[in-house]
Amino acid sequence: PEMHAFLHELPKCEHHVHLEGTLGPELLFPLAKRNNIELPKDFPTTVEELQYKYDNFKDLQDFLDLYYVGMGVLITEEDFYELAWAYFTKAHADGLHHAETFFDPQGHLERGISMETVVNGFKKACDQAEKELGITTKLIMCLLRHLPAKDGLDTIQLAKPYYQKGWIHGLGLDSSEKPFPPELFEECYAHMAEHHPEVLLTAHAGEEGGPEFIHKSLDLLNVTRIDHGVNSIKDPLLIKKLAEQQTMLSLCPMSNLKLRVVEDIGDLPIREWIAAGVPFSINSDDPAYFGGYILDNYLAVQDKFGFDIPTWKLIAQNGVNGSFVAKARKDELL
Ligand code: ADE
Ligand code: ZN
Repeated sequence: PEMHAFLHELPKCEHHVHLEGTLGPELLFPLAKRNNIELPKDFPTTVEELQYKYDNFKDLQDFLDLYYVGMGVLITEEDFYELAWAYFTKAHADGLHHAETFFDPQGHLERGISMETVVNGFKKACDQAEKELGITTKLIMCLLRHLPAKDGLDTIQLAKPYYQKGWIHGLGLDSSEKPFPPELFEECYAHMAEHHPEVLLTAHAGEEGGPEFIHKSLDLLNVTRIDHGVNSIKDPLLIKKLAEQQTMLSLCPMSNLKLRVVEDIGDLPIREWIAAGVPFSINSDDPAYFGGYILDNYLAVQDKFGFDIPTWKLIAQNGVNGSFVAKARKDELL
């Protein structure tokens, strides 16, 4: 209980949460009804059935199949706003101070929802979180790697006005990893580097893919952060490079357990990263699907690793340092 209070108070930053991954049954079913969405015949119809699915994912793809159908209930600007606002209030109750949140516009564009609807709804929730909860926020647009790079470039074009206004602060890459290696998206990342050099570049890598996916994300996409990065531990030279460059990994412990990236949270290479000086943060990924928000993920790590207070302070400090905010805000967060 003492450690619970300490971890609650610790200045936590989240760098890896998909807003669509915060859509749980309590909002999914009412939205389906409100928007007259007929869910597929094989989609769970009760909270219990949905929970059973959540507890039995075979792998990343098995989760993604449910995730893309689930987000199909999001139609209006208000829906996107409500989703993000519910996340911010939960995260705030968990003691979160700063949130860098992913979203997947292609999962909405292909259903005929406009970029404007998605971004306006999320932005409204971000503004409200800053004003009413004191949380700083950043939106990071992710490209779906199972779609062609051409689609990614078109999506970047649609998002231009929002990058220019400073409403979107980053570019990420997510979805099915192994069949779609980083090099497929070189052009998308090069475009961003050339036309929007102020934007944070990140990519999911080394969740199911091997260390070469991390190398290629760093070398070919020029990302400054790696999302997941668990498989970095299989390559000592990569560990050295991550430490030297102080590239932060956004670790998602409960996600890794639920998607069977590891058999046990205790198997995550956290001690090795700390020993080698590789910075990482602790994150919830898709909290509605994986059974826990940010504090639950901290507690799950504490349960397996039993870190002392200085170690936790170091982890929190690395999270603040790796955040995409100005120095003044970092000083405030620490
Ligand atoms: N989309 C949402 N969550 C994801 C994850 N953990 N890996 C890849 N794509 C995702
Ligand atoms: Zn993710």
